[in-house]
Amino acid sequence: MSYILAIESSCDETSASVIKDSEVLSNVISSQYFHGKYGGVVPELASRAHLKIISDITEEALEKASLSINDISALAVTSEPGLIGSLIVGSNYAKGLSLRYNLPVIPVNHIEGHIFSGFLHEKNAEFPVVNLVVSGGHTAIFFVESYNKYSIIGLTRDDAAGEAFDKIAKMIGLTYPGGPLVDQYAKSGNPKAYDFPRSMIHSHDYDFSFSGLKTSVRYFIRDKFPDGVPEEKLPDLCASVQSAIVDVLVHKTINAARDKKVNGIVISGGVSANSQLRADMAIRAEKFGIKTYAPAMGFCMDNAAMIGFIAEKRLAELGREQFFNLEYTVSATALRAKTK
Ligand code: KG4
Ligand code: ZN
Repeated sequence: MSYILAIESSCDETSASVIKDSEVLSNVISSQYFHGKYGGVVPELASRAHLKIISDITEEALEKASLSINDISALAVTSEPGLIGSLIVGSNYAKGLSLRYNLPVIPVNHIEGHIFSGFLHEKNAEFPVVNLVVSGGHTAIFFVESYNKYSIIGLTRDDAAGEAFDKIAKMIGLTYPGGPLVDQYAKSGNPKAYDFPRSMIHSHDYDFSFSGLKTSVRYFIRDKFPDGVPEEKLPDLCASVQSAIVDVLVHKTINAARDKKVNGIVISGGVSANSQLRADMAIRAEKFGIKTYAPAMGFCMDNAAMIGFIAEKRLAELGREQFFNLEYTVSATALRAKTK
């Protein structure tokens, strides 16, 4: 029996999961909501909170899978990118378990986790696909040919889409993380109420830019609602902002999928939970005979199941011996254009 115990702690979610043969047996996630009062994640507090809870979360994941640590045959842990202190907590915890129970540790890139999370519950998805990874820290389009071969074909030039959601939400007076709240308000709003820029929508590449939208909303609020955005205007404002972000994400991803002649689009990362993004991408891709895959809701945000899923593939491909070397280091380095 090859059970993998995976741990994810790269930002403000502490998560542990047990995976076997690509099946998720448990996926426990604890979100650090207390950052809301600071308007964003405070790295030092995030590390301390991971440290406090990581052992309990891991035990809960084992319990939910009806297993003990003695049943586990390998560990997986997010090693990059992310907040350095948070990464160190998860990584050192995994190394500790490795030494105590003589288990290999497979270090996993968080973005790779998101890229392939669309395949977690979608056994029919076939490579190649175009994948939009869209989260609080990253916005990129990948051309994915297999579990081992993918390349970045588009990247944000400034803010990530989730960051734009969160920063704009903060300007409007919503708490962190603002993305889900904007989504909620937008449901009853008119997306055409206010006209915000769709930056780079006609550029002949797959890159993004969201800082112009942020500035445009800032001036709009200053001029139109100098005393703060009234509650009754929130739905229209949120719907208009959300549409400006989603239109560009959908347009560029579909262009990439058509240019690359793929039959499938995968969207993943925290922002892939956005209801308009999921709906618009599916409807517009369908017109070109392209199918859209998105992770189940609980697997859009940061989670350890996606880390265990890709670790299992690596283990099958490379064998367990090399993963007893615990000298790998964690790295905060953000996404950069590279081909793998
Ligand atoms: O993948 P994730 O959990 O963490 C990172 O790796 O960044 O993504 C978190 C991001 C946050 O910016 C959050 O506001 C955004 O995902 N998000 C959403 C929604 N749910 C989460 N943005 C828009 N609509 C949503 N429903
Ligand atoms: Zn993430």
